[in-house]
Amino acid sequence: MPAKKTRLLAVANEKGGVGKTAMVVNLGAAMSAMGKKVLVVDMDPQHNATAGLGVQIREGMTNVYDLISEPGIHDPAAAIIQTPWENLHLLPSHPDLSGAEIELVDEEGRENRLKESVAGVVGNYDFVFIDTPPSLSLLTINVFAMAEEVLVPCQTHPYAYRALEALFDTIEAVKEDINPGLKVAGIVPTFFERRTRVGRDILERLHSDERYSRYVFETPIRVNTAIAASSDAGKPVVFFRRSCNGSRDYMAVAEVLAKGNSGKRKK
Ligand SMILES: Nc1ncnc2c1ncn2[C@@H]1O[C@H](COP(=O)(O)OP(=O)(O)OP(=O)(O)O)[C@@H](O)[C@H]1O
Ligand SMILES: [Mg+2]
Repeated sequence: MPAKKTRLLAVANEKGGVGKTAMVVNLGAAMSAMGKKVLVVDMDPQHNATAGLGVQIREGMTNVYDLISEPGIHDPAAAIIQTPWENLHLLPSHPDLSGAEIELVDEEGRENRLKESVAGVVGNYDFVFIDTPPSLSLLTINVFAMAEEVLVPCQTHPYAYRALEALFDTIEAVKEDINPGLKVAGIVPTFFERRTRVGRDILERLHSDERYSRYVFETPIRVNTAIAASSDAGKPVVFFRRSCNGSRDYMAVAEVLAKGNSGKRKK
C-alpha cells in the first residue's frame, strides 16, 4: 500500500478578522466528519482555535509555545489533545506564544522550530490545518516553513480584497527564502452576503482578477450567525448546527479541498 500523504495547510491572511480561525476549526471539523484524520495546530497567541474546539488552557498542558521555545524537550505526541469529536485533534496554543518573537530573535534556525518539533506526529494525519495570527511575525513564518500549502480566507469586502496583494507578495518572499515548495491551495471568499452589492462585486472581482482567479473556490462561506455562536459555544459549526448555511458551506469547501482542487468555474 502506498504511504499515506499528509496535507499540511497554513490558513493565513495578514488581515485580521477575515475568518482564519473559523476556517481552521470548521473546515477541520468538516474534514473529520468526512472520515479524515485531522490535526489543528493553533499558532495564534489569541488561542481562538483552541477555545473554538472547546479546550480551555490549563496549567501544565503542553502547548505549541513549549514545543518551539524548548526544542527537543517536549514530546509533541503528548501535547496533542483529542477533542470530543472523532478524528479531530488539537495542538493547543498559549498566550505566552506572543513572546516567542523576541525570545527567539538570536536563535539559530528559529524559522524551523515548529516544523522540526512536529515532524514526528504530522504523518499520522490526512490533514493538518494551522491557524496563524493576523500579522507577519516569526510565528507565521514558522507556519509557512512547515506548511506545503496556504489556504487564504478572504472576506468579500474591498479592504480584504486589496490586502491580498501584500499577502501574495509575502508568499513569494517565503518561497524565495524559506520554503520553495509552498503552494497556494486556494482563496476562499468569506462573510459573503449575496444581497449586498459590495459582496457580489468583490466576489466577481476575485473571480475575474487574473492574479487570483485560478485559486478562488467556487463555494463562498456565507455570513451565518451560527458560525459565531458555535465558536462561542466551543463547538465547530458542523457539530453545533448540522443543517445551517455555515455547516453546508464548510462541508462544500471540505469536499472540494479533499479532491485537491479549488472547484474552479468551468469556462
Ligand atoms: N461566515 C461567518 N459568519 C458570521 N460570523 C463569522 C463567520 N466567520 C467567522 N465569523 C465570526 O467572525 C469573527 C472573526 O472570525 P475569525 O476569528 O475566524 O477571524 P480571524 O481571521 O481568525 O481573526 P484574527 O485575525 O483576529 O485571528 C469571529 O467571532 C467568528 O466567530
Ligand atoms: Mg484568528
